[in-house]
Amino acid sequence: MLRIFTQLTALLAVLMIQGPLWAEDALPIRASNGLALTPPMGWNTWNKFQCNINEQLIRNMADALVTSGMKAAGYQYVLIDDCWQGARDAHGDIQPDPKRFPSGMKALGDYVHGRGLKFGVYSDAGVMTCAKRAGSQGHEYQDAAQYAAWGVDYLKYDWCYTGKRNAQEAYGVMADALRATGRPIVFSMCEWGTAKPWLWARNTGNLWRTTEDIRDNWDGKERWMHGVIDIVDMNVGLAKYAGPGGWNDPDMLEIGNGGMNDNEYRAQFSFWAMLAAPLIAGNDLAHMDEKTAAILTNADVIAVNQDALGRAGDRIAKMGEGEIWARPLLDGRSAVILLNRSTAAVTMTVNWAQLGLAEDANADVFDLWSKKLSKSVKTRFSAEVQPHGVVMITVQPR
Ligand code: GLA
Repeated sequence: MLRIFTQLTALLAVLMIQGPLWAEDALPIRASNGLALTPPMGWNTWNKFQCNINEQLIRNMADALVTSGMKAAGYQYVLIDDCWQGARDAHGDIQPDPKRFPSGMKALGDYVHGRGLKFGVYSDAGVMTCAKRAGSQGHEYQDAAQYAAWGVDYLKYDWCYTGKRNAQEAYGVMADALRATGRPIVFSMCEWGTAKPWLWARNTGNLWRTTEDIRDNWDGKERWMHGVIDIVDMNVGLAKYAGPGGWNDPDMLEIGNGGMNDNEYRAQFSFWAMLAAPLIAGNDLAHMDEKTAAILTNADVIAVNQDALGRAGDRIAKMGEGEIWARPLLDGRSAVILLNRSTAAVTMTVNWAQLGLAEDANADVFDLWSKKLSKSVKTRFSAEVQPHGVVMITVQPR
């Protein structure tokens, strides 16, 4: 009982500390829509399939989410990104591409719901989407009503072709339109961090992109796309803006898409848990090898991501190509990442004092990837970290 009370008090304290972040906004203050109290988990078409999508692919992926064990691990949302749209009809109502989605979106939503999953679509705050399909500008309430009629549970809302629109105002209109439907719809803001949404988007949306697009590489920029570790760098310092109902979104997972090795993919999954990021898989779930499935369904790493305290982690130390990141958990443990950015294995150390514990404290250490438990570890923990790799542990003070 005392434990539950302590946990509730901790949660309340976080909510109170974070309150003023949105209360000071000049534009309308929205109450929480009550959704996404932990980061959303699901699958999205874009990273693997871009515009090569159709209703059969979506059904196959919904099936694969169930048969692969992903649903049991917590993945819930089946999200159709850009390119599902056809033209607007005579009433201005948006319709799906009739060749690719001949059965219509209501039927597809029903199929997804029939698998015990939730259904999401994509639109854009401008006149066109990034792939030049119809955008929602000027049709926000009409589009939101259409999505609700289809049974949509999640909307990703992009920022292409928005001209001089003000992001806070534009996302606010769609936020209000979604609420006016009366249907609970998670609102994913894909504004790429341009207008610093972490400063104002709490309660406008449930998640906001903090960067331009991710690519299936460890590092380096190509056009507007960035490597995984570069995206991690861009999220340093943003943890304090996230919490239950409103999350930083460093873009979707690339795990299983073939451009990185398993150390790098484990690093992406570990960091997305550390950052309290949405876990949106982006690979071909119907043709996924065992290693990919094992990474995406690591229950201990997912538990860190979904921790009910909802405090995101941040970098606490940087020494050359080594970094230490930490995230407090509801039960008093800390989740810690030792990151090795170099191309050779190195031994790395975290001192308990760096986690706010007494220098000579004793703690139980659990490695979330090797599953090794080390009991009563005094003062510090050291481990060998693979190149472009992480060791991710939880630290339980005794
Ligand atoms: C933008 C977004 C991506 C994706 C594409 C679709 O680049 O940032 O996540 O939705 O558009 O065209």
